[in-house]
Amino acid sequence: MPKTLEPALLYQCPVCQSPLLPYNLSVKCDKGHTFDVHKKGYINLLLAHQKNSKAPGDDAQMVASRRRFLEQGYYQALAEKIALRARQWLPSNASLWDAGCGEGYYTNTIAQINPGFELYGLDISKPAIQSASRYKQVNWCVASSSHPPYLNESFDAIVSVFSRVDALPFYRVLKPSGSVLLAVPDSDHLLNLRKLIYDTVRPYDTSKHLSYFDQGFELTNEERITVELQLNNNQAIFDLLGMTPHAHRLPQDKRSALEQVSSLTDTACFKLYQFKKSHLNPSQTD
Ligand SMILES: C[S@@+](CC[C@H](N)C(=O)[O-])C[C@H]1O[C@@H](n2cnc3c(N)ncnc32)[C@H](O)[C@@H]1O
Ligand SMILES: [Zn+2]
Repeated sequence: MPKTLEPALLYQCPVCQSPLLPYNLSVKCDKGHTFDVHKKGYINLLLAHQKNSKAPGDDAQMVASRRRFLEQGYYQALAEKIALRARQWLPSNASLWDAGCGEGYYTNTIAQINPGFELYGLDISKPAIQSASRYKQVNWCVASSSHPPYLNESFDAIVSVFSRVDALPFYRVLKPSGSVLLAVPDSDHLLNLRKLIYDTVRPYDTSKHLSYFDQGFELTNEERITVELQLNNNQAIFDLLGMTPHAHRLPQDKRSALEQVSSLTDTACFKLYQFKKSHLNPSQTD
C-alpha cells in the first residue's frame, strides 16, 4: 500500500505555489493540481520544463555505486559529524531539508541521530529518490533544488552534502532564523586517488564555497573533517571514483591502470560550513 502522507506537509504546488494537502493517495492544491504519492512513499514534483534532460541527475548506476560505497560505512564518521552538528546547532524539533540528497545516506543518519527532526529529502534523480525511499522516516520528493516545492519559510535548516546549492531559493524556504549546513570537499580531498589518475594534481579551489552564500547569509561556523580510508578491493575504489567528478574525465589508459589496483589508502578531507540567514538587499529579491 502507498504510504499516506502526514497532514502537516511543507510542500507547495510546483505549478501555482499553493499549499499541497493529502488527498486520497495523492497530494492536491486548492486549484486542483494533483500529484500521486508513489507506492514507495515519495512524490514526483518535477515539472517537465524544469528538466534539462529526459532523466536528469545521477543515473541508476551512479546511485548504485554510491549506495554500495556508503553502505560499507567508509563515510560514516562524516555523516555522524554532520548529524551531531545539526543536533548542536538546531532546535530539537527542527525541520530540515536535504537538498540533492542522493540515495539518502546522510539524510537517514541525520534522522537516526535526531529523532525529533522533521526531515525532507529532495533530488532531481528519480533512481536516487527511489533508492532513498527505503528510509521511511523522511519525506522524499523528486524535484530540482533550483525550484524547491516547499512553502516559504518552512525550514530551520537546509543540508547540502556535495550537491548543487542555489542561494535565492534556499533563502525563500528557510525560516528567518534558519541556516544552511554545507559539506564540500577540501582542497586536499582524496589526494592519493587523484595521483593515480592525473599526472599533475592541483589542490581544489575552495574559494568558491564561501561565495555561494555571500549575500543574504553570514558564515557562523566552519570546520574541517577528515576521514581515513583503507579500501581493499577494486570495486570500492571504482565506487569511490564514481562519486567524484573525475570518473567522467578518466582516459582509457588511466582506467586500465586503475583496474589493476587492489588497495588504496587515502584521506577524505571535507569542510562543513554553517551559514545563517540574515537579510537580502531589496535589489536581490528580483
Ligand atoms: C554528488 S551527488 C551527492 C548526493 C548525496 N548528497 C550524497 O552525498 O550522497 C549530487 C546529487 O545532486 C543531484 N542533483 C543534480 N542536480 C540537481 C538539482 N538541480 N536539484 C536537485 N538535485 C540535483 C544528483 O542527482 C545527485 O544525486
Ligand atoms: Zn496548484
